[in-house]
Amino acid sequence: MAQYSRVSGNVGLITLQNPPVNALSAAVRQGIVDTVKRALGDPEVKSVVICGQNGVFCGGADIREFGTHMTGPPLVPMIHAIEMADKPVVAAIEGVALGGGLELALGCHYRIAHTKAKVGLPEVTLGLLPAAGGTQRLPRLTGLPAAIALITTGRQITTAEALKLSIVDQVTDYSAVDTAVKFAKSVAERSLDGRRVSERPCPCPPDVDALFEAAMQKVRQSARGAIAPVACVQALQAAATMPYALGMQREKELMATLFTSGQARALQYSFFAQRAVGRWSLPSGARWDGSKPRPIRKTAVIGLGTMGRGITVSLAQAGLSVIAVEAQEKPLKEAQQAISGMLQRGAKRRGGAPPLDLITYSANLQAVADVDLVIEAVFEDVALKKQLFQHLSAICKPEAFLCTNTSALDIDLLASQSRHPELVVGMHFFAPAHVMKLLEVVHGSRSSPEAVATAMNLGKQMGKVGVAVGNCHGFVGNRMLKPYLEQGLFLLEEGATPEMVDGALEEFGFAMGLFRMSDLSGIDVGWRVRKGEGLVQPGASVRVRQGRRYSPLGDLLYEQGRFGQKTGRGWYRYDNRHEAKPDPWLNNFLEDYRARHGLAARRIECQEVLERCLYTLINEGFRILEEGIAAGPEDIDVIYVLGYGWPKHRGGPMYYASMVGLIKVLERLEHYLRAHPDVPSLQPCSLLRRLVASGSPPIHKWRKIIKKTQSHL
Ligand code: COA
Ligand code: NAD
Repeated sequence: MAQYSRVSGNVGLITLQNPPVNALSAAVRQGIVDTVKRALGDPEVKSVVICGQNGVFCGGADIREFGTHMTGPPLVPMIHAIEMADKPVVAAIEGVALGGGLELALGCHYRIAHTKAKVGLPEVTLGLLPAAGGTQRLPRLTGLPAAIALITTGRQITTAEALKLSIVDQVTDYSAVDTAVKFAKSVAERSLDGRRVSERPCPCPPDVDALFEAAMQKVRQSARGAIAPVACVQALQAAATMPYALGMQREKELMATLFTSGQARALQYSFFAQRAVGRWSLPSGARWDGSKPRPIRKTAVIGLGTMGRGITVSLAQAGLSVIAVEAQEKPLKEAQQAISGMLQRGAKRRGGAPPLDLITYSANLQAVADVDLVIEAVFEDVALKKQLFQHLSAICKPEAFLCTNTSALDIDLLASQSRHPELVVGMHFFAPAHVMKLLEVVHGSRSSPEAVATAMNLGKQMGKVGVAVGNCHGFVGNRMLKPYLEQGLFLLEEGATPEMVDGALEEFGFAMGLFRMSDLSGIDVGWRVRKGEGLVQPGASVRVRQGRRYSPLGDLLYEQGRFGQKTGRGWYRYDNRHEAKPDPWLNNFLEDYRARHGLAARRIECQEVLERCLYTLINEGFRILEEGIAAGPEDIDVIYVLGYGWPKHRGGPMYYASMVGLIKVLERLEHYLRAHPDVPSLQPCSLLRRLVASGSPPIHKWRKIIKKTQSHL
């Protein structure tokens, strides 16, 4: 809806009303059309202000309407009518003006924004482009380079930046609505010449072709198969080369191809999945969503290595005080320097002062005695962590939450070391922890709903998307990675090369193939995990462990001191630190290995690489759902998109499976199992079979069947 009133005598005030973000639903659009008509027809009204209720201008098109039969007036003529009005129309931007919200504001003759508001055109993140004139009006205000950067990334910017880019005309610390009303009165009689953005020329630099060539190359490289960023560049090209009306036509045509695309559907699924994961109750039945999180003021981080540093930065940036603890003075000093540097760089980017004062450094564990919550990030060593939990339990106040950042260890085992196991949960961050948005909150069998709720809430305060998961080896993300990585090694044994496997996965859309990822995270890290599981047998040539096929290739590389990027050699060679180059040594090594084991190399197609790597990962996802380790497929998909570089425009592994067709996934797993009966991860999970037997229902119906499956167990 949109409410109309007359204020200050002769200003017509239109207020968008559609909680929580005043999205432009059919009713809101109709409301705008009606109220604008009323304001323009009212002889007493000399100028108009458009604002949103509850301190939010507008979060854009109503995403819930996508995929339904859309009714109500379309945005383009609505915004055009506002722009063509003969009375000045002022947008009063508070909270956010995003997508269609900003496009509406760009159709107004003036824009006044609150200092704390954010603006942007995030459509590309939903697989779309700003198709209500955004691609044509924005560059007319900002120039092409800034418009390309904003529209192809969907970045949201502060109003200070928007002012510099001429997207808004004025920024105020006071109420944007009151300021806009005052302003509207002052311009009531002023001519609108030059105020209609669509009538301005699009400023074009002389090297416009080179500009677009570079822009296209950049999006093609970073988008990895995503079509929306490419269409955004094409629409902007139209703005630069065509008159406004033709540019609008081009924008519409490009949008038509995106709107019904599978990529847009996947990205929109992901948008809602990311918001829904915070709400659902745990599969174990514990209803943490009903229990209140406890407020956390003082925190502690133990172990200031790679992860501890990022977690400390993230906590301080969220305004929490942190006691940061290392075992000894020297690494403590080094960590302090590194953390201060990270905070300073962060402050430079975000503006404001670095929150250095919020952190107290100590080499004495006693310093954590009065904190509300501890996150430990010491070495992944079960004996060390068990001992630490005993110490923490003795030192901390009895009501303190004790959290572990372990990647895979048993939360129940660690909880059993504490006098208050109900206050122990996993908070599994991802590297780099101050950047990555994902947080797996792991509930042990004794974790209280309040402890899970508190960890989820703290994650939210830190700007993370928390996903509550059950306790098992590797939890959700790392557990699913295991069969995926294992298939990579098997493919090498059978004739593939790291660059061929990675090439197929990167072509699929992963930011990094599995061997490049292994080189980055460290071949030694995986080796230590396998050693902990009793799988490593130095020098052993047997390809079977614990009764199943096992590839010792990673262990052999470890024995050669090839740990990946950190040693300059791994699955690839690194002459400069980051650039992976195929290594002839590795090819010889693989040939020797195959010869020693009597393995004949065969030609392997990309399709086999993808099916074996991805379908085993997906199959493990079904096992996780069946066991109730994740509440639903959306949880798994959010974990993979935010934490594991799964291509966003493919929704996530479970969504992808639903798109490929469950029957196909099942058939291909069965096919590969026949060829490799000694690989249990190829054995299709019974939930997958059950879903296929129920006619492969759409993904939003899986939960019901999962519940039934669980009640049969
Ligand atoms: N259409 C429909 N619903 C929307 C929406 C939109 N454009 N934007 C947000 N919502 C809903 C969310 O689904 C959520 O619903 P829920 O409470 O039922 O889960 C609610 O509004 C709050 O959103 P949330 O993201 O949790 O709140 P926030 O305060 O962290 O962020 C925004 C608010 C507006 C910044 C963020 O929601 C956003 O970026 N929205 C998308 C904007 C966009 O892409 N617009 C262009 C559409 S083409
Ligand atoms: P790291 O080796 O970089 O850091 C560990 C730090 O803990 C070191 O600085 C060490 O000095 C310190 N430490 C060891 N014992 C201590 C003690 N008793 N008291 C205080 N400090 C102590 O390790 P990391 O990569 O940061 O991993 C830490 C934890 O996070 C592990 O459990 C790991 O599995 C998990 N994790 C790591 C990653 C990753 O990508 N690195 C991702 C997610 C989770």
